[in-house]
Amino acid sequence: MFEITPNLNPNDQTPLYIQLYQYLLKEIETGRIPQGTRLPSIRKLADHLGIGKNTVDAAYQQLIAEGFILSKPKSGLYVAEFDEQFFTPSQDSGSQFSCLEAVQPLESNYPFDFRHGHIDKDHFPVTIWRKLTNQVLYDQAIFSYGDRQGEPELRVELAKYLYQSRGVSCLPEQIIIGGGIQQLLSLLCFIIKLENPECDGKKSGQQQLNHYGNVAVENPGYDGAREVFRQHGFSIIPIELNTGGIDLKKLAKSNARIVYVTPSHQFPMGMIMPIANRMKLIQWADRVDGYIIEDDYDSEFRYKGKPIPTLQGIDSFGKVIYLGTFSKALLPSIRLAYMVLPEQLLKSFQTNFQSYEQPVSKILQKTVALFMQEGYWQKHLRRMRHIYQKKHETLHQSIRKFMGENVKIIGEESGLHLLIEVKNGDTEDTLIEKAKSSGVKIYPTAKYWMNQNQAKDPLLLVGFGGLSETEITEGIRRLSESWF
Ligand SMILES: Cc1ncc(COP(=O)(O)O)c(C=O)c1O
Repeated sequence: MFEITPNLNPNDQTPLYIQLYQYLLKEIETGRIPQGTRLPSIRKLADHLGIGKNTVDAAYQQLIAEGFILSKPKSGLYVAEFDEQFFTPSQDSGSQFSCLEAVQPLESNYPFDFRHGHIDKDHFPVTIWRKLTNQVLYDQAIFSYGDRQGEPELRVELAKYLYQSRGVSCLPEQIIIGGGIQQLLSLLCFIIKLENPECDGKKSGQQQLNHYGNVAVENPGYDGAREVFRQHGFSIIPIELNTGGIDLKKLAKSNARIVYVTPSHQFPMGMIMPIANRMKLIQWADRVDGYIIEDDYDSEFRYKGKPIPTLQGIDSFGKVIYLGTFSKALLPSIRLAYMVLPEQLLKSFQTNFQSYEQPVSKILQKTVALFMQEGYWQKHLRRMRHIYQKKHETLHQSIRKFMGENVKIIGEESGLHLLIEVKNGDTEDTLIEKAKSSGVKIYPTAKYWMNQNQAKDPLLLVGFGGLSETEITEGIRRLSESWF
């Protein structure tokens, strides 16, 4: 049964039973107490609110008399069913907010949705997950708060995994668990600002410009990261890309000392930063005494060439902050990501964030730790690599078969998306509209440029993780039919 918690004021001139009656009436009118709801008994509500039974009875009787509630013999009191049009929206129903949007499920209703954040639906190991979650639910540890930095056993497993698969060299103590890359980036901004008070927006003026108050970002690049930096008051310096990722010469000419990059699979363009550029980038960070924020968001899936070590793995100056996520290789809905801090920033985190609790569920962290300890993670990764490799090939072949030379494929060496440049004279919006009419959802890229006018030919983002091979083929066939 739901609880009723009105703010009754015994010192008010309005009698308590009228206050309770008015409160209940408003809740019924606005639908917050839905029609057909069974109301608490007179005794229970009186106990709950610490008021007399007569007061509750009087309020209920008034509502019964007006037809808002019904008394069903041997059952209880219920909110009556009535025509909602009878009511005008109350001031409290939320109608005074011009920014309210109706709550709607995010699920796509397109038969073929090439969204880049979607992952394979058929191979998540549900039975194993259920077994491990059950196991964790019997662990006495779930009855207390978790470690502020993240569950130690999860950090131990992550440190091993990151070293073996990504060449990241770190201690579990350097890892901070968070609820997604943006949340960790936001925490990182706080840490950087505490370390460097000059970049707090309150200190303005020329002196600030050459300091940490700037963040250089790839352009085009991940808008989600850019937004976090902007909201923390950093000035954003967009740096163009070349075939090796961020243009290092342009970065060197900027006055930035922090750069955010996606070197393993540039988002959204997909290029992989060559090792020579990685070395130069680290030298740059050392020279300017700055930091590199390395976002390794979908590095688990690579289809061509040999893996290149992460920037963190080849950094001997302690200049790289490494970020990774479980969103692509496991599940985006579990909201679990990790950040590896170099020593100086780690100290700052430990000094300044003592009173912050860990935001990610301990139950979930322990489940993931078990998943890793018992070897299921590596098995799952091997399986998913194979599955995505096949989906990737199917996508590539379907584009070639149905679209031929009408499109150019870009950034196809790794990850769960690629880009297609369409050469039929249509704009990005027109192409998306045409796709929609054939049941296909395809995504624009213009928003990834700092200045959307910089976006050149129509470039569309095709995520393939969430579709089966058959759906990929049919989706591309339909796209081609609607475009050419
Ligand atoms: C470059 C990049 N980093 C991070 C993320 C999101 O990571 P998370 O799900 O952990 O927030 C995305 C999302 O697609 C992304 O494109």
